[in-house]
Order: sequence, then C-alpha cells, then structure tokens
Amino acid sequence: MSNLSVPLEDELGDVLEKAMRRADLSEEVLAERAGVLPARVHDAIDYRPDFTTAELSRLAAALDLNEVGLCALGCGQYPLPESVALPFCVHPLRMKHGVGFANAYLVAECGASHGLLFDTGPGLEALTAQWPAAIKSVDAVFLTHAEGEHTGGLCAVVARFGLEAASCPTGALVPCGRPMGEGERQRFGRLEVTALSTPGHAAAHNCYLVTAPTAQPGGALLVSGDLIFAGSVGGGYFCPKQLVTQLRRVLAAVPPSTVIAPGHGPLTTAENELRYNPFVV
Ligand SMILES: [Fe+2]
Repeated sequence: MSNLSVPLEDELGDVLEKAMRRADLSEEVLAERAGVLPARVHDAIDYRPDFTTAELSRLAAALDLNEVGLCALGCGQYPLPESVALPFCVHPLRMKHGVGFANAYLVAECGASHGLLFDTGPGLEALTAQWPAAIKSVDAVFLTHAEGEHTGGLCAVVARFGLEAASCPTGALVPCGRPMGEGERQRFGRLEVTALSTPGHAAAHNCYLVTAPTAQPGGALLVSGDLIFAGSVGGGYFCPKQLVTQLRRVLAAVPPSTVIAPGHGPLTTAENELRYNPFVV
C-alpha cells in the first residue's frame, strides 16, 4: 500500500470547523472577519468549498491557522513526504470504521516475526484481515486512547499473544490496560518506546515515540493517535487549547525527520507538519 494513495483524514471543511470551535467563532462572525459571504463558509463546511487563494489567506488569518497549509489544503494540494527510511519496519493496518478508516500499526525489526502493536482498530476481525503474515507474535500492545475505533478486541488481542495487559495513557478506563505515563520507557530488543502524555482529543491520550537507539543511522517514529493527522488535528473533544499546546510541544521535542503515524489518514513527518499543518503557526 502506497502511503500517497491514502486520502487525508480531513478536508478543508473539517479543518475550518475544528478551528472555528477552537476559536469559538460562528460561521457568521468568521465570514465577517474574513470578508467572505456566510453562505460560502457554510458551503465549505458542507464539503463544497469554493474559495480563492486570497480568501483562504484571510480565513487563515481570522482563525490563526497556517496560511500556506490552509491554502494547499483548499486547493487539494496538501503536500505529503514520499517516504523516510527508518531503522525498523512499520506496517500500517488501515481498517474501515463507520464512514471512515482508523489506523493501527505494527512495528518490528525488519525480518523479525514478532513486533509491537499500537492500537487495535475497530475490532479483531478487521485487525486480522490486515495482519501481515510475517508477524507471528506481539511483544507488547500500546493504546493511544480509549475510543472504540482504536481499542476494538483489545482483551482478545492481549490474550492471544499471552500478554498481561496493554500499555495505556494514565487515567484511561480500559479493560486489559495498565498505565504508561509521560516519559516512561520500555525496551524490546533494539526497539525502545517512550510515552508522551498528550491530553486534548481525550483527557487520557498518549503518543508513543519509537526509536532504535543503537541503530546507525537513527530515525524515529511517532505514533500520534488522534493528536495530529497529516494536514489536521484530532477533534479537541476534551480541550482544543490543550491539544494545540501538546501538538506544539511534541513537534518541538522530536527530530524533524521523525515519521508520524496518525490514528487516521496517511503517514507524514514532523518536518512536513511543522511547515504545512494548518494548526501549526
Ligand atoms: Fe480516532
């Protein structure tokens, strides 16, 4: 599966809606501030955008969004990195959930028959259908946050691989989970996993940074859950301001070449999102 064939999770309308909610602006107030007709803001949120580049620039200013990224998204030309070499193998498991898709990830030393599983998708059947034949066992399971589209079949997965529990964000109410807090590390062979506590989308939400500390050259993978997507962010259901604070903290903390593996949509990199993500200014 080519990463470039995976559509972005959010369209322009989704980004505008999330930014309006964060800024607590109505369609009418946004339209007035950006100098566009309210009906056209409404059309964009209804997935029928028809803005000029100048209008997109004014919308970005009114919503404190990254102008270049919003214009690229509005023109259907949001850039994605083609590929970045990592010192381990990443298998994205993209599973249908409702009208959309949710991602889980298997990370393994290349050539190994065992690996680490991040999230479980909407259910065991969907996970099994995507499972790479080469991976026969799982050393550990990590959850980004407790939502059905990311934790389906968790206890069955944990039991199938003979594990005691999955590592979860502190405070997440998940059967078969145990907490893994900010800065905690776990080592599996040459792979190391560090938890970053990133509340915003949910009160209990973790990102996980995966590295191979002894590998030359290095490289890192950030399993970002619903903190950040290529070209957008997760819904700020717990707190949109905390989400953006965490987004900036995490992007500043990881090397720019870090590959980002989001809970929805295609892979991206920290460098790409620092330049283009509408919510990074
Ligand atoms: Fe999600």
